[in-house]
Amino acid sequence: MTDATRKILVTSALPYANGSIHMGHLIEYIQTDIWVRFQKLRGHNCTYVCASDAHGTPIMLKARELGISPEQLTEQVSREFVRDFCDFGVDFDNYHTTHSPENEAIVGQMFKTLTESGDIYTRTIEQAYDEKEGMFLPDRFVRGTCPRCKSDDQYGDACEVCGATYTPADLLDPVSVLSGTTPVKRDSEHYFFRLGEYEQHLRSWLQSAALDKSVAAKLEEWFDAGLRDWDISRDAPYFGFKIPGTDDKYFYVWLDAPVGYMASFRNLCDRRDDLDFDDYWKADSDAELYHFIGKDIMYFHTLFWPAVLQGSGFRTPTSVFSHGFLTVNGHKMSKSRGTFIQARTYLDNLDPSFLRYYYAAKLGPTIEDIDLNLEDFIARVNSDLVGKLINIASRCAGFISKRFDGRLAESLPDSGLVAEFGNASETIAGHYERREYSKAMREIMRLADKANRYIDDKKPWVMIKDEDSLADVQLVCSQGLNMFRSLMIYLSPVIPAVADDARKFLSEERWHWRDAAKPLLGATLPKFKPLLTRVEKDQVQRMVEQSRDSTPAPEAPAEDDTISIDDFMKVDLRIARIDKAEPVDGADKLLALTLDLGDSIRKVFAGIKEAYDADSLVGRQVIVVANLAPRKMRFGVSEGMVLAAGPGGEDIFLLSPDDGAKAGMRVK
Ligand code: 2FM
Ligand code: ZN
Repeated sequence: MTDATRKILVTSALPYANGSIHMGHLIEYIQTDIWVRFQKLRGHNCTYVCASDAHGTPIMLKARELGISPEQLTEQVSREFVRDFCDFGVDFDNYHTTHSPENEAIVGQMFKTLTESGDIYTRTIEQAYDEKEGMFLPDRFVRGTCPRCKSDDQYGDACEVCGATYTPADLLDPVSVLSGTTPVKRDSEHYFFRLGEYEQHLRSWLQSAALDKSVAAKLEEWFDAGLRDWDISRDAPYFGFKIPGTDDKYFYVWLDAPVGYMASFRNLCDRRDDLDFDDYWKADSDAELYHFIGKDIMYFHTLFWPAVLQGSGFRTPTSVFSHGFLTVNGHKMSKSRGTFIQARTYLDNLDPSFLRYYYAAKLGPTIEDIDLNLEDFIARVNSDLVGKLINIASRCAGFISKRFDGRLAESLPDSGLVAEFGNASETIAGHYERREYSKAMREIMRLADKANRYIDDKKPWVMIKDEDSLADVQLVCSQGLNMFRSLMIYLSPVIPAVADDARKFLSEERWHWRDAAKPLLGATLPKFKPLLTRVEKDQVQRMVEQSRDSTPAPEAPAEDDTISIDDFMKVDLRIARIDKAEPVDGADKLLALTLDLGDSIRKVFAGIKEAYDADSLVGRQVIVVANLAPRKMRFGVSEGMVLAAGPGGEDIFLLSPDDGAKAGMRVK
């Protein structure tokens, strides 16, 4: 072991138990699982817990729609989750649910402590209420016309067209999504957590947690904007835990969700003598605690969660590791493109090791988005895993089994190579530790190239023809298989199933990280079977076809308003080149485009963020309405409009002229 044994508790975000695990989710579970497997391989006491996030209005309503109880729904969905995770090699030490007695007990205890210390108070607020359904409506369950730009059918909290944010009370013609009736305003008493009181604590936690720069910058922004108290209650009907002492108030799902990390661990401790709950969660615990999350839920994990823990007398996280979102072929995942791929659909077509390796080859410690380019996926997996890695063993193992009864040599001929493969150990370990997986994969593949070059140089298939060189063939192939073995140990956190088969082929009981630097000599090996086969293009195509939503988009209503050719001629359509494309802070749907129109540079906000990765747009030609009156939006002035087709959201397609069009040209 290189350093003293560490006690580490690791979590991934708890998935809502009303959907299916898809390729986007898998970034996080694979990222976490690699880290945990790495820590365990290094000999640390690392424990990985997760659970289903069972509570909240959407889950309650989904169960109602299916005619089952929310408990039945979440249990059923959790069973599927567990199967998917297991088949992807995601190896939790415990998978629980937030709807558990352990969770209710801890949340209750926290609520009591925080109430007694004055950190929780009640206040009456006004909220949209659906009289037909007899329930208060979360913002997303009210739709209506945007008070700012007058676009219809917008959510109750933000307009997808102009980016304005507001409350459901500001919407024009609001309608309840549940009943289609007009909601009324109704008073209700809610419980609030005094987040503002924790600013100092949070600032010092931020220093100690060594958060990634991008995450720390976000936190600074939130501090600057001022921390508002947090509404932690919801009214009945709700699926969650009832607030002690009330009849119709429940804890908001986001209060008990992170407590689910603790509850899952508690549930595990109750079955394991070697783990003690307090040892990991008491305020002065010397164990490490890390949460892996997506960048969309940073607010909950870097503000609410450390504050709630601190206030209720528990330890705070050692750090929070955020990752970016997944794009497929440069776009948001899309059902119509067949790139909204469920975990199960992937598994029906492809080996999970491929995806684990591909994600590892792309992952770093930042919140940058990850692109799964399917062509690149096929090329990279075939070239790295099959062409480089497995090939080392295939080229050596046959000679060892056929000519030497499966016996490896008692020594290795190239001590320089032995040292080089052993010395890489700490560099690669450092990359894993800092979640620089792409760097680790590059280093491992550099060594794989080296191993292949060694075999190319020695040419055992030529040497074998000369009886005098027989002993040398055994030496060369033993050297080759030892290099293969070291690389497999280094890769075992990423492709554990393949590494396991490799370990069994090498007739070893178990591997520790340090074994990579210790050659395997004199062992007798069974016949080698190929550990992986190439990915074929049609497997990927089949997966995409199976993921494609072929339901035709609803037909547009018949249009009876026509415009004259003169009206049309008023529209000045021009070709523009996208010079810059950037996300807009606080707007889920918008990208800010800087357009070159030949004679002018314009800034235009376009609602295409769900469909396009900003970086992929730079340099593309688009068609713009150049004489649209500038519109003032919340984020700035939009000086035109880019043309796109499609129903919207992820299914919007920019009209992009063929090459040859020049910025500034008029569209005839
Ligand atoms: O965003 C989500 O999918 C949540 N279910 C994550 C919860 S993570 C934790 F706090 F429980
Ligand atoms: Zn609007």
